[in-house]
Amino acid sequence: MKIQTIKEADLSNKKVLLRADLNVPTKDGKVTDTTRIEAVKPTVDFLLKNNAQVIICSHFGRPKGEKKDELSLKHILPTIEEILEYEVQFIDDCIDIEVPDAPISLLENTRFHKEEKENDADFAQKLASHADIFVMDAFGAAHRAHASTEGVTNHLPSYAGLLLESEINSMAPLLDSKQIEKPLTLIIGGAKIDTKIGILNNFLDKADNIIIGGALANTFLLAQGHDVGKSLVEEDQVETAQEILMKASETGCTILLPKDVIVADEISKEATAIDIPIEDVELDMMILDIGKNTMESYVELIQNSKTIVMNGPLGLYEFPQFEAGTYVILEALAASNSTTIVGGGDSVDALNKFNIPHKKFTHISTGGGAMIEFLEGKQLPAIAPLIKS
Ligand code: ADP
Ligand code: 3PG
Ligand code: MG
Repeated sequence: MKIQTIKEADLSNKKVLLRADLNVPTKDGKVTDTTRIEAVKPTVDFLLKNNAQVIICSHFGRPKGEKKDELSLKHILPTIEEILEYEVQFIDDCIDIEVPDAPISLLENTRFHKEEKENDADFAQKLASHADIFVMDAFGAAHRAHASTEGVTNHLPSYAGLLLESEINSMAPLLDSKQIEKPLTLIIGGAKIDTKIGILNNFLDKADNIIIGGALANTFLLAQGHDVGKSLVEEDQVETAQEILMKASETGCTILLPKDVIVADEISKEATAIDIPIEDVELDMMILDIGKNTMESYVELIQNSKTIVMNGPLGLYEFPQFEAGTYVILEALAASNSTTIVGGGDSVDALNKFNIPHKKFTHISTGGGAMIEFLEGKQLPAIAPLIKS
C-alpha cells in the first residue's frame, strides 16, 4: 500500500490543517496517557521545519454534536504545549473563525458539531477553508469516515503525516502472508469478542498460533464445554467461538486457551486469588487471569515466534491480583528480538502501568478500533483517499 506523505508535499509558506488524534484518556482533568500527543510531535516538527503553519484539529471524547465544557481541548492544551515544546494558540471553535498567524494553532473539538460525524460536505469545506493542505495523522480515528478525517480530503490536497505512515508501514506487511516472518503468533485478549472476531478470522490462515486470553478466553472455554462459573462471558457469541475453533483446525492454526486460571469470588482489592486447573472452576468463581502454567507455555511460544502481534490484556490487569498474566506476556514481548506489535487502548495502558518502555517493541499502535479494523484487512475510509493510484 503506497500512500502520499508530507515528504512529497510542497509545504513552504503553506497553511496546513493537521488532523491529529488527541483523544487521550484523562482523570480529574489530567492526561493519564500522553502516547497519542507524543506520537504526533514528529509530524508537527517536520511541518514547522519546512516552513508550514500548523493548524491542528481533533475530536475529544464523544460529545454527541454539542458543546460540552468537560470535553473542550483547552483542558489538555498545557500538556500539548509541554510535549510539543511550543506555544499553541487555542481557538474556541473549529469553523467560522479566523485562524491567527501563529506557528501552531489548535482548533476546538470537531465533535462539538454534529456535522463532523455526519461527514457533512459544507462543514468539511468550512474546515478545509482554513488551510492550503490537509495532513492526516490521526491513525486512531482513521476507521471513522468523518468530516475532519475523510470529508476534508475532497477539498484540499491531502497527505499522510509521519505517524500515519509509520502505522501503515509497520502493520501493512502483516496483511501479506509473503511478507510475514514466521512463525507468527497473534495474542488477543480483552473483553469484547464482537470487536475482535474480524481480526481472529483474518489471521486464521496467516497465523501459526493464536493465543486467546482475557474475558475473550472465557467464551471460547465455554464453547469447548468447560464450566466458567460467574466469569464474564458472551453467551450469544459461543457459536461464533465454535466456528473459529473449527476453522482453525482446518487451516492448521493452533489456538491456545488457558489450561489453568486465576479465579476469585469477587472483583475487589481484597479478593483472594487462587490458581486452579480449568477443570476445577466452580459455579461461584470468576476467571480473572491466566494461570502460572499457562503463562509459562505462552512465554515459550512467544520466545519461539518471529512475529508477535498483541491486542487486549490477558486478565483484569487493573487489579494487582489479576495483573500477572498481562505483565508476564508484555515482558516476554519486550525481551524478544522478533517483530513485536502491540495495540489497543487498554493494552497500551497496561504497558504504561508496568513501566515497560515503548522502545522495547517494534511498534506500538496508537489505534484501538482502527488497529483492529486495519488488521481485519478493511480499507480504512480516512486512508483510502491517500493511496497512490
Ligand atoms: P484493548 O483496549 O486493549 O483492546 P479491551 O477493551 O478489549 O482491550 O478489554 C480490556 C478490558 O478487559 C480491561 O478492562 C480488562 O480488565 C478486561 N478483562 C481482561 N480479562 C478479563 C477477565 N478475565 N474478566 C473480566 N474482564 C477482563
Ligand atoms: C479512539 O480512541 O479509539 C479513537 O480516538 C476513536 O474514537 P471513537 O471510537 O470515539 O471514534
Ligand atoms: Mg479497550
